[in-house]
Amino acid sequence: MRKKITVIGGGNVGATTAQRLAEHGLADVVLVDIIEGVPQGKALDLLEAAPIEGHDFKITGTNGYSETENSDLVIITAGIARKPGMSRDDLIKTNMKIVQDVTREVAKSSPQAILIVVSNPLDAMCHVAYRVSGFDRRRVIGMAGVLDSARFRSFLASELDVSVENIQALVLGGHGDTMVPLPRITTVAGIPITELIPAKRLEEIIDRTRQGGAEIVSLLKTGSAFYAPASAAAQMAEAIIKDRKMILPCSVLLEGEYGINGLFIGVPVKLGVNGVEEIIEIKLTPDEDQALKKSAAAVQGLVDFLNQEEV
Ligand code: NAI
Ligand code: 2OP
Repeated sequence: MRKKITVIGGGNVGATTAQRLAEHGLADVVLVDIIEGVPQGKALDLLEAAPIEGHDFKITGTNGYSETENSDLVIITAGIARKPGMSRDDLIKTNMKIVQDVTREVAKSSPQAILIVVSNPLDAMCHVAYRVSGFDRRRVIGMAGVLDSARFRSFLASELDVSVENIQALVLGGHGDTMVPLPRITTVAGIPITELIPAKRLEEIIDRTRQGGAEIVSLLKTGSAFYAPASAAAQMAEAIIKDRKMILPCSVLLEGEYGINGLFIGVPVKLGVNGVEEIIEIKLTPDEDQALKKSAAAVQGLVDFLNQEEV
């Protein structure tokens, strides 16, 4: 039987994600937004591309939740995006209310679904979705590490003029300036990156990765990145829907892993049909561990704010 994926938020990330999901042959897609006509129009436009793209998936746009009932997977992209001068954290007040509202609806209409959260500030919004849904921690997963790692991989591939497929890299931690790229385990066709790029240059590329979101915001001026974020969300969806058991860096609730308790933070996990099937604990060096703890402290600051607001 066909799977069903709901994408909440029919803006730049949501609509592009819907396109990727259908065109990658994953599932029927329901696109939800509060603006009347927008999800309907974008869904119809995507459906009309199907004969050319060669798929038979249904794509439906709606302002409600009845069409979303019993979705296998729900991707939450609703919320405001950054403008120049704003950090992801500046979005928290507005987006926590939006994520609260949509998660309540999702938990009612699709109680068995797995949630992928995209809205920013990412790790804090995962907390909101987790608390409001009441879902098991295996079914609430944040998208950030796949995007941040893809940025790192694409910059490294350009630097070395090699295929992106040769680059393996992991970016851990929260989705913010404190994210933790791990050059020690970054390889090019199995060769450690530290043997191919001088340390100073590598540090510049790591810094560009940390600022990757801001770089796009400063160019676009009216919003933030959406093509690569949509690709990242679609890759996570594929790992789950096709039960591929892919190891990807995702924001998940840690309960003691990496010495962190009760916080969503980016670490490598195995994604399959049950959602987070395993949290993979790699041994970090003292410096890497310190960087991860610093990143966790930044996420904790946002969670403290949510606690004050009683989310
Ligand atoms: P956008 O402004 O293009 O789209 C957001 C959509 O959400 C709008 O169409 C809006 O009408 C809709 N929306 C607002 N409240 C809603 C509600 N209650 N129910 C349903 N829909 C609602 O923004 P964009 O670029 O699509 O970004 C969406 C979010 O994703 C932002 O918070 C952004 O910061 C975040 N983001 C996160 C990334 C990550 O790596 N985790 C990467 C890129 C974006
Ligand atoms: C990004 O990293 C805005 O979080 C979004 O592009």
